[in-house]
Amino acid sequence: MSKNVSIDWSKLGFSYTKTDLRYISMWKDGKWDAGKLVEDNMISISESSTALHYGQQCFEGLKAYRTPNGEIQLFRPDENAKRMQRSCRRVLMPEIPVDKFIDACMQVVKANEHFVPPYGSGATLYLRPYVIGVGHNIGVKPAPEYLFGVFCVPVGPYFKGGMAPVNFTIADMDRAAPHGTGAAKVGGNYAGSLLPHEEAVKRGFADCIYLDPATHTKIEEVGAANFFGITKDNKFVTPASPSILPSITKYSLMVLAEKYLGMTVEERDCLVEKLDEFVETGACGTAAVITPIGGIEVDGKLHVFHSETEVGPVTKKLYDTLVGIQFGEIEGPEGWIYKVK
Ligand SMILES: Cc1ncc(COP(=O)(O)O)c(C=O)c1O
Repeated sequence: MSKNVSIDWSKLGFSYTKTDLRYISMWKDGKWDAGKLVEDNMISISESSTALHYGQQCFEGLKAYRTPNGEIQLFRPDENAKRMQRSCRRVLMPEIPVDKFIDACMQVVKANEHFVPPYGSGATLYLRPYVIGVGHNIGVKPAPEYLFGVFCVPVGPYFKGGMAPVNFTIADMDRAAPHGTGAAKVGGNYAGSLLPHEEAVKRGFADCIYLDPATHTKIEEVGAANFFGITKDNKFVTPASPSILPSITKYSLMVLAEKYLGMTVEERDCLVEKLDEFVETGACGTAAVITPIGGIEVDGKLHVFHSETEVGPVTKKLYDTLVGIQFGEIEGPEGWIYKVK
């Protein structure tokens, strides 16, 4: 480590800390420039930027992990790069080549190496890549210029309690429309989720669960995370829908459940009226990691799964396997780990 920083790693939550350097690249006249690291954490853009008025932007979230021997590694950054390309296509922005995306993440981690929390603290360095439409414009049309940035912040658990079960309620509002932008990681989906989230938190829940926007009968997402359930006969089940954000954690868990834990995996409808098919459920995502769901409030009644206080055995095994691979304690499937050198 090049420098020391005075951070109590064990007290970190999911909040912003200014780190030393961030990456910026500009798209102009049909191409991306080489990109560079900068100190300034403020950006100056036209007041008429499409990102500000028409939500022409997208972002990603991934983490750098410190391993037992002090190395640093990224978990499947190529998948984040590809998802960002899909998001860019959906809102008519130029794509970032996969190699450029990974290189930008590597540069940012290396430049802020001393902010990567030590192994064993449970904390990580969260990377936030983003693309925004900038430049002067006033009509509803794609921007003349784009900015691709990556910054990083050291983070602890997303939901208070970390790997302890938390309760959720069902949202009346939707985060996405049937043929809308739910599968893209664009800011508008998150703006629409602020109010139902706040209402859920005010009522004592960790967050809310979104149902399928067309029929309101099937589970889609758990706040900013995907949903999974474990059935009585030990199947790993997760919803299938075009309006869910395809979670890299969820697709990784599907592989781990099948190949490492010998489970049957199903991606299909998860009906609210059939919640009792599950003995354990959880929320999964880069920030949420695996957060066990204690109970879900449906029509004013709390449906409890394994327990409101204890983590279920299958959820625990999935968590240990996933986190073991991310922190370099367990060998992951080929190509999942990228060493930061
Ligand atoms: C709406 C939403 N769903 C699911 C996820 C989980 O995706 P991932 O596992 O790729 O972090 C996220 C976080 O990125 C999200 O914002």
